[in-house]
Amino acid sequence: MSFGLGHGKTLDPAPGVVGISPDELPPLPDSILDDPDSGRVDPRLWFTDPARPFQIEIGSGKGAFLVQQGALEPDTNFLGIEWAKEFYAYSADRVRRRRASDGSLANIRLLCADAGEFLRWRCPPGIVAVIHLYFSDPWPKSRHHKKRVVQDRFLGDAYRALLPGGEIRIVTDHDELWAWDTAHFDRWTKAPPPDGAVGELTGGSAAYELRSFDAPESAGESELVGSNFERKFRREGRSFHAGVLRRLGGA
Ligand SMILES: C[S@@+](CC[C@H](N)C(=O)[O-])C[C@H]1O[C@@H](n2cnc3c(N)ncnc32)[C@H](O)[C@@H]1O
Repeated sequence: MSFGLGHGKTLDPAPGVVGISPDELPPLPDSILDDPDSGRVDPRLWFTDPARPFQIEIGSGKGAFLVQQGALEPDTNFLGIEWAKEFYAYSADRVRRRRASDGSLANIRLLCADAGEFLRWRCPPGIVAVIHLYFSDPWPKSRHHKKRVVQDRFLGDAYRALLPGGEIRIVTDHDELWAWDTAHFDRWTKAPPPDGAVGELTGGSAAYELRSFDAPESAGESELVGSNFERKFRREGRSFHAGVLRRLGGA
């Protein structure tokens, strides 16, 4: 199955165009519940070389990780997904300025959207090498827990979007959020996925294995990832949790 840009709309993948705003995506068709593939678009086509490995950062904030790692890995395409318009605009402008000054960062684009919704309804299966999730909002009140990125539904949607062997890389400073994350990881690493999830894809086995986190090349000495929030929290003396969920199964 191939997935186009959707509804004949042109998302301009030309160098110099960084941001993709919500109104550039076609509306989800009414048939979406019967045909979950009917709203998909292929984000790899938003890059000048769509054949390169494709990674996503969820909640890219001011874009420090994308800018640092994207510069060191020009042969990988990075899509930052940030739903807060001011951070989306800030980081797109940061990438645009850097591109204009030295021609680098043609491999970075920013999408203003809910990353969970993007993975569920838009992203084609089996295309993402890495999903980065750094210092995700902890939403500490229990009535807001549903807003946390890590949910069973998210782990199922990420499983579908990831390539075999693909990874979800997570760092947080928040003890209670990490307890929530690891409780979810247990359900996906120690047994077949929960009912109604992607059991048909895992063939009755666990969906992921949990591995230790290695810092990316762009992280500074003694940093885990070197994002804006990590640097702020380090100055405050906080400690961190980190892990990698590696997608099991070949299909
Ligand atoms: C605490 S900040 C961390 C920013 C950056 N990752 C860092 O480490 O500096 C969390 C970011 O995730 C964004 N965010 C939270 N949930 C999101 C979602 N479902 N989709 C897209 N962005 C999201 C927030 O707007 C915020 O900018």
